[in-house]
Amino acid sequence: MNLDALSKGFKAIFDCEPTGIASSPGRVNLIGEFTDYNDGYVLPCALEFTTQVAFAQRGDDLIVVHSFQYPNEQDSFNLADEITQGDSQWGNYIRAVAFVLKRSGKKLKGMNLLIESNVPQGAGLSSSAALEVAVGGAFNHVSDLGLSKQGLALFGQQAENDFMDCQCGIMDQLISAKGQKNNALLIDCESLETKSVSIPEDLNLVIINSNYPRKLVDSEYNQRRIDCEQAAKKLGIKTLRHGTIEMLNVAKPDLTSNEYKRAHHVISENSRVIKATEALKNNDMASLCALMAASHYSLKHDFEVTVPATDGLVEICKGALQSRGAVRMTGGGFGGAIVCLCRDDDIKLIKQAVEDNYTQNFNLEASIFVCKAADGFLIME
Ligand code: GLA
Repeated sequence: MNLDALSKGFKAIFDCEPTGIASSPGRVNLIGEFTDYNDGYVLPCALEFTTQVAFAQRGDDLIVVHSFQYPNEQDSFNLADEITQGDSQWGNYIRAVAFVLKRSGKKLKGMNLLIESNVPQGAGLSSSAALEVAVGGAFNHVSDLGLSKQGLALFGQQAENDFMDCQCGIMDQLISAKGQKNNALLIDCESLETKSVSIPEDLNLVIINSNYPRKLVDSEYNQRRIDCEQAAKKLGIKTLRHGTIEMLNVAKPDLTSNEYKRAHHVISENSRVIKATEALKNNDMASLCALMAASHYSLKHDFEVTVPATDGLVEICKGALQSRGAVRMTGGGFGGAIVCLCRDDDIKLIKQAVEDNYTQNFNLEASIFVCKAADGFLIME
């Protein structure tokens, strides 16, 4: 949506102009899955899909929120009261951000908010992180909190962990806050240091949403995290970031089969991220192809977060691309999307292969997005 339409919508609802618009993107992760909460490495990039939050300060302590996506639902709550869950699921993300900011002692001012988003939901492209970072940015601006982009990301993650009950890592919020056009970001999730890695101009990011109905995602997600933490404990290390395959094999008799497999994924995935970063810098498709295939295999067999629909899409695309493109599932798993890195000429091959095989075998319609890496969070006044 263009900014004019958002401002007009705001005026129509609140009878005043917005003082600014906070915008934050969704993301795709190229490699480094479920490594973030193990203090490991990830290589995501921000997308051109964004969530935009038009805002203006109110004269009281109320937060009043409307959304273009849910025209019949609005949410409002008082910052002076205890902030608890409300009836609106999307509204709870705004409450979650207010809750963690307030808990940290920040003085928040009342605001009117209007939200608009074109980040596909349920696709594993981080629509919730985009919302948290944009809403955090609106609070930061109106209440003059002086938060950095990293600060916005950390509060967004806390909002998920402590209010939405999803024990996610920092990847989604940090890339949404700090993404850079035409670049992926290598994030060290222990130090939170980021390095931009330029995406070669002739490489396309093709994202294919399986549209598989995701279920029990949060409980399975949280259980994986517990398995990883248990494994680290048994290895005698703070987090799996500090583990090696040799250490894992020595400790194998003490680990449950799940703990072993989860740790094997995380430790091997961390080294794949470092190698893939080099391969991306060198535009080395053969290595990218092998590393992304190994990542998917590990997510399927060791971390067990793929479903037949995402495995099937990966197979279909691999069949079409052979060694000319790199493919794997991306994001939080249990459905969602796959990502392909390929050259221009291969886009039509993928589209054709998906059209010919996906619906027929999985009884679902896939959505295909050809994307570019985009900038992260920004405020427009
Ligand atoms: C979700 C979480 C992230 C990360 C990914 C898997 O997107 O929000 O923190 O763990 O899953 O890599």
